[in-house]
Amino acid sequence: MDLMELLLNRRSIRKYTGERISEKNLEKILQAGLASASGRNRKPWELVVVQNREMLEKLSHCRTGAAKMLEKAGCAILVFADMAKTDVWTEDCSIVMSNMHLMAASLGLGSCWIQGRLREAENGQTADAYCRDLLQVPDGYALEAILSVGVPLEHPEPHRAEELAAEKVHYETWTTQ
Ligand SMILES: Cc1cc2nc3c(=O)[nH]c(=O)nc-3n(C[C@H](O)[C@H](O)[C@H](O)COP(=O)(O)O)c2cc1C
Repeated sequence: MDLMELLLNRRSIRKYTGERISEKNLEKILQAGLASASGRNRKPWELVVVQNREMLEKLSHCRTGAAKMLEKAGCAILVFADMAKTDVWTEDCSIVMSNMHLMAASLGLGSCWIQGRLREAENGQTADAYCRDLLQVPDGYALEAILSVGVPLEHPEPHRAEELAAEKVHYETWTTQ
């Protein structure tokens, strides 16, 4: 599959069989994240992989409604940032998320971005505090997002190149066509 095909095929998948992700595939997904570009090459990220079913169930409450899919995921990969390393940690960690999401798609696995930053857990804590407490993350680190990964139970249609919003691209100045 060439890169454009992969980009069009990538969808957010929220229904999984509950099977574990093979070590080989997990390794590739993590490598894709670790290979990411970062501002001034600071690489502020730390990744926490959760495969334990009980922990995945607990993590599914880290958001109000938006993290339910973790109950049946094969694993969750939480992306934290050392905020002292750089002021562009959100951008850096977003690239890690995106690269892992794409690698999962290229391996035929389903995955979904679960927003962590600026969001609330079901118990009223911030999603960040909820996950840091649960996973014993040291002070100074912030949660960017969580990637749920699983063997897919749904296969939504790929995006179609013809349907992409070409009008969002402006050439030379905003108003010229
Ligand atoms: C920054 C960001 C935050 C997102 N947060 C969530 C989330 O918390 N829960 C969820 O189910 N999907 C989340 N998504 C997935 C989007 O809903 C999804 O990408 C969008 O609906 C487009 O669908 P597609 O990914 O299949 O193209 C998020 C995606 C991004 C990029």
